[in-house]
Amino acid sequence: MNVAETIAEARAAVGEARAAGRNVGLVPTMGALHEGHYSLIEASKAACGFTAVSIFVNPTQFGASEDLDGYPRPLEADLAGCEARGVDLAFAPSAAEMYPRPPLTKVMVEQLPDTLCGRSRPGHFAGVCTVVAKLLNIVRPDQVFFGQKDFQQSVIVRRMAADLNFGAEIVVCPTVREADGLAMSSRNAYLTPEQRNQAPALHASLKLADRLLHEGKTASEAIAAVRERLAEHAPDGEIDYVQIVDPETLEDVQKPGGPVVAALAVQLGRARLIDNLRVELGRAEA
Ligand code: PAJ
Repeated sequence: MNVAETIAEARAAVGEARAAGRNVGLVPTMGALHEGHYSLIEASKAACGFTAVSIFVNPTQFGASEDLDGYPRPLEADLAGCEARGVDLAFAPSAAEMYPRPPLTKVMVEQLPDTLCGRSRPGHFAGVCTVVAKLLNIVRPDQVFFGQKDFQQSVIVRRMAADLNFGAEIVVCPTVREADGLAMSSRNAYLTPEQRNQAPALHASLKLADRLLHEGKTASEAIAAVRERLAEHAPDGEIDYVQIVDPETLEDVQKPGGPVVAALAVQLGRARLIDNLRVELGRAEA
C-alpha cells in the first residue's frame, strides 16, 4: 500500500493507476476506522481497480465548541487496517498540507444545510463540502463512497458534485451497525458503559417510527412516539432533533405519501450520536 502525506505524492500514485487503465474509487474519512468505513472500502474495491482512502480530521468542519482536539487519531492502526483490506493508496495529509493558509474559498450548498444537523452545526457542511471538493480535485476519482449513516452529508455532497460538475459518481452505502443496532461511529468511543447501554435506543426508536408510519400515523405522531421512547430508554440523552424528511429536499414531511427518512441526533454524554432510517412507504395512488 502506498501511503501519501502530500498532495503531490497522492496525485502521482493516482496518475500511475490511471495510466495503467484502472478506475479510481475514493473513500473520504476522518480516520478512527471501523467496520462502517471498511464497508465503504469493500464497495470501492468491488467497483474500482484502484481504491484510495483519505484519512484527514478536517478542522474546518468542526465548530469552536466541538471535539476537534479530542477526536481520535489512531493513524498507525488505521493504516494497518487499510493495508489488511487491500487499499491501494492511503492519503493522510497534515492540516498544513491541506490548508497551507486560511482558505478564502469555501464551497457552500444552499438550503440543504438549514435543517437536521446543519441547524445546530452552523458552518459544518461548508467545511465538509470544501474538503470533499478539494479531495475530489486532488484524487479525481470515478466513484466516491459515502455512508447512509451521515444521511444529510450524503445528500449535500451529491448535490454539490452535480451542481459543480465534478463528474465523480457519488455512491451511498448502507449503515453498518453493532449487533444491538447502534450505528458504528468513531464517536461511540466517547460513551461510558452506562451511556453505551442506552445508545441502542436511537435505532430502536427509528424502527418504531418506521412501524408507525407504515400503520398510517402522521409524522407528528411518529416523532412524538420516538421522543417518548428515547426519554424512557436513553434518559441521559439530550435530543437535538427528531425529524421525518423528504430523502432529497430534506424538507419536513407531515403526511408521507412516498419514501421518507426518519432522522435524529442525540447528545449522550460527550458523544453527539446521529442515526436515520429510510422508510419505504409506497406512493399514494393518484
Ligand atoms: P467520517 O465520520 O470518518 O466518515 C467517513 C465515511 O464513513 C462517511 O461517508 C460516513 O457516512 C461513513 N460511515 C461512518 N459510519 C458509518 C457506518 N456505521 N456505516 C456506514 N458508513 C459509515 O464523514 C466524514 O468522516 C467527514 O465528514 C468526511 C466526509 C471525511 C469529510 O471530512
